[in-house]
Amino acid sequence: MSEVYLNGAFLRPEEAKVSVMDRGFLFGDGVYEVIPSYGGYFLRLEQHLNRFDASLAAIRLDNPLSREEWRTLLRRLIGTPPAADQAVYLQVTRGAPGSRDHLCPAGTQPTVFASASPIKPRRPEIAQDGVACITRPDIRWQRCEIKSISLVAAVMMRREAEEEGALETIMHRAGLVTEGAVSNVFVVKNEALMTPPNSHLLLPGITRGLALLLAEEHGIRYLEEPILLETLRGADEIWLSSSTREVLPVTRLDGRPVGDGRPGQLWQRMDRLYQAHKEQVRNGHV
Ligand code: PDD
Repeated sequence: MSEVYLNGAFLRPEEAKVSVMDRGFLFGDGVYEVIPSYGGYFLRLEQHLNRFDASLAAIRLDNPLSREEWRTLLRRLIGTPPAADQAVYLQVTRGAPGSRDHLCPAGTQPTVFASASPIKPRRPEIAQDGVACITRPDIRWQRCEIKSISLVAAVMMRREAEEEGALETIMHRAGLVTEGAVSNVFVVKNEALMTPPNSHLLLPGITRGLALLLAEEHGIRYLEEPILLETLRGADEIWLSSSTREVLPVTRLDGRPVGDGRPGQLWQRMDRLYQAHKEQVRNGHV
């Protein structure tokens, strides 16, 4: 990481310091985004910035920068010429007032932070073998559509997955699948592609939206409808989607094979569409 952005300045990461009174530090009172870029072009930048606006509005924080200011600063972070494929992280907290109080004094300046880091290429084994997931009850709050920096539940879920030798935890609430700790979930059953509908119980993933758009453009029918945990357990295919991991095939769930235990045909098709879209982004065509 060569330089990061903090409150108007581009600094070396070790120079960038935030107050201990920062409400992000004390309360997790802030929101964030993660936006992938390929060859110097962002994938679905406006959709990410729209979601960032929605998260800020939901916690009643004004966006401290204009859309054009965000675009300019994000472009600078990935560098010219861009250093490989990178994901930018951006975060705004409610700032650092003089004392710790749940109520924040009016006029407190928000803290604005952004950085870029390389996107690790997908390991070839993943397309061959897929990944393992576990299932757990969704222990999070009920405003999961907000991309909040309060991520302790996600941290716990990822750790549990790792302890079980899995990549991700797929969560369920009241018998219905919500999403992964850091990803959205798709299920294929009898050739029907399904994903839970957007609601306050899950993040409206940008990769989820792109996968649905690609499906629509290429005549793959899909349903956005509640998915029973039993349906997940009996799925022919399960996919995860996220900006940094793209669309991944899940081939083991709670230690048992998904379908025939190999990445499915529909995933292979979606992955080809996704990779082709990414190459168009990389060439500046989208
Ligand atoms: N997380 N659901 C949750 C809870 C997430 O944290 C994420 C992404 C997603 C996928 O959203 P998108 O397709 O827009 O990346 C779904 C990011 C990558 C993170 O926290 O690092």
